[in-house]
Parts: sequence; C-alpha cells; structure tokens
Amino acid sequence: MLKIAVLVSGGGTNLQAIIDEIEKGTVTNTEIAVVISNNKNAYALERAKQHNIPAVCVSPKDYGTREEFNKELLKKIQSFDVDLVVLAGCLVVIPKIMVEAYPNRIINIHPSLIPSFCGTGYYGLKVHEAALERGVKVTGATVHFVDDGTDTGPIILQKAVDVKQGDTPEILQQRVMKEAEWKIMPKAIDLIANGKIAVQDGKVVFVDKLEDC
Ligand code: GAR
Repeated sequence: MLKIAVLVSGGGTNLQAIIDEIEKGTVTNTEIAVVISNNKNAYALERAKQHNIPAVCVSPKDYGTREEFNKELLKKIQSFDVDLVVLAGCLVVIPKIMVEAYPNRIINIHPSLIPSFCGTGYYGLKVHEAALERGVKVTGATVHFVDDGTDTGPIILQKAVDVKQGDTPEILQQRVMKEAEWKIMPKAIDLIANGKIAVQDGKVVFVDKLEDC
C-alpha cells in the first residue's frame, strides 16, 4: 500500500479528485495518510476531515524563519511515514531538504503543458492569464516529479485542453481542471502505487513497455 501525504494551499479540488478515485477503486493500492496545508483556512482541510483523513496546518506564519518552517514541514511529513508526497495545489516553494529526503518521491500538478508557462511566478490563475495573453490555442496540465528546480522534474503525464475564443482565465482554469488535472493527478498516483513507472536518465518510462522491448 502506497502511503501518501497530500500538500495543499487552497480549495483542494485536486485532493477531492484523488479521494474520489480512491473511493471508486480506480486508484488502487493507495492510502492518504495525511493532508497538510500551509494555510489554516484552506477548504482542502475540510474536504480531508469529511473523509476522516488527518488534516493538519503547518504555517510559515508560526515560525521565525523560513528554515524553521521548512524543517517543521519535513518533520511533520516524516512523522506520517509516507512513501510519496503529492503537491495538489500546494503553493509553498519546496525546500531542498525535502527534495533530498524524498528523491523522485514528490509529485506536483501544474496547470500548463510544461515547458510552457512554468517556472518561478507561474502558478494558479497567472498561468492561464499568460496563456491567454500569448494567444495559445491549446493548453493543458502536467504531473511531474519534483527536483530542485521549479517545474523542471521528470514529466509523468500530460493532457492537452483546447482554448476557446472568449475564454477568461477563470473559465480556462475550470476547463483545464475538469478535463486534465482531475484525471492525470489520480492516474499518476495509481501508476506509482502499482509500480508502473520508473525514472531513467531523468525521464519517466513505463515499466510494462520496457518489458515489451
Ligand atoms: C490547480 O489548478 C493546480 O494546478 C495549481 O493550483 C490549483 C489548485 O487548485 N497549482 C499550481 O499552479 C502549482 N504551480 P485546487 O486547490 O482546487 O486543487
């Protein structure tokens, strides 16, 4: 059983998608051990509680320095003895100590087709604003492993979504979530939980396809 910690900051619709797919049985071999938010008012914490999942807040506001906060966040995750850390709308910059503690064991969902519209400053609605500003006709979402760069780790899954004339950032965000994020995030967890993927030379490969070769 893959034990996961889900890190959130806001509404938690990606968390909800993971919970739903586990309950439906489309994501197997997976247990959410804890949901951790940096923001005590995040609705994602309520979603966790409604499903009897431990929900805790570790806020940078409660610590004197960023280093102290980073250490406490890592300590909290380690106390739940998880195999995988899932960043589901988590807007905290993941510190190096966490990447070192969980090499290729942290995944993130990003609301664009990486390497477009990613890196420092690209998060949430800002990603969709930038995509509309550039006039792209296709966007989407990406799930990737987290390394010590911003949105630079090995890509696990991507799904494209059409941009429609008249889209606002909010309308586009909803379509990208519904058509891409809520599908590929649970799917990536299921692949990891069932040993279907591996990282080779910095890229994700599908283990079954390797066996076919
Ligand atoms: C999602 O769109 C996710 O892709 C984005 O934040 C939103 C969280 O929504 N994450 C990033 O931009 C990370 N760079 P949720 O709280 O409803 O899941």
